[in-house]
Amino acid sequence: MARITVTVDGVAYQEEVEPRLLLVHLLRDRIGKTGTPIGCDTGNCGACTIMLDGRSAKSCSVLAVQADGAEVLTVEGLAGPDGWHPMQRAFHEEHALQCGYCTPGMIMAAIDLLKDDPDPSEDAVRAGLEGNLCRCTGYSNIVRAVRGGARAMRDAGAVGDR
Ligand code: FES
Ligand code: FES
Repeated sequence: MARITVTVDGVAYQEEVEPRLLLVHLLRDRIGKTGTPIGCDTGNCGACTIMLDGRSAKSCSVLAVQADGAEVLTVEGLAGPDGWHPMQRAFHEEHALQCGYCTPGMIMAAIDLLKDDPDPSEDAVRAGLEGNLCRCTGYSNIVRAVRGGARAMRDAGAVGDR
């Protein structure tokens, strides 16, 4: 067992973990962050995407011990005192989900994409989110939502915040 300290959505946790424990299982089973789903458990679908020290990561591809000392942000930590994060609002307004299983990972990956490209073209959004799969929507509304969320974040001066 290893003792780790990890900050998740602004709260510090100290946990005893087996070296083989995946970060996504720590988040869901130990910390209760079930808003981060598991789709494939093999790094392919992107459903489990979170921010690890400010950049997106597939939490089924990271060991919990690798997050020792790190800051993790999940979809559950995105909303602020004024309500939803602009990207969450954009997904709602553009009907960018059906079953919603891919949505937390899509939103986290989209916010990360904007850190490198605050005004992405449609092609740039599609390329940036190619590691995140959706079985339902056909992606068009997701692309529209990401571009709308990007616009809202630029207007709010929030690109790069989180
Ligand atoms: S559950 Fe992590 S990439 Fe699919
Ligand atoms: S909305 Fe169902 S997988 Fe994307």
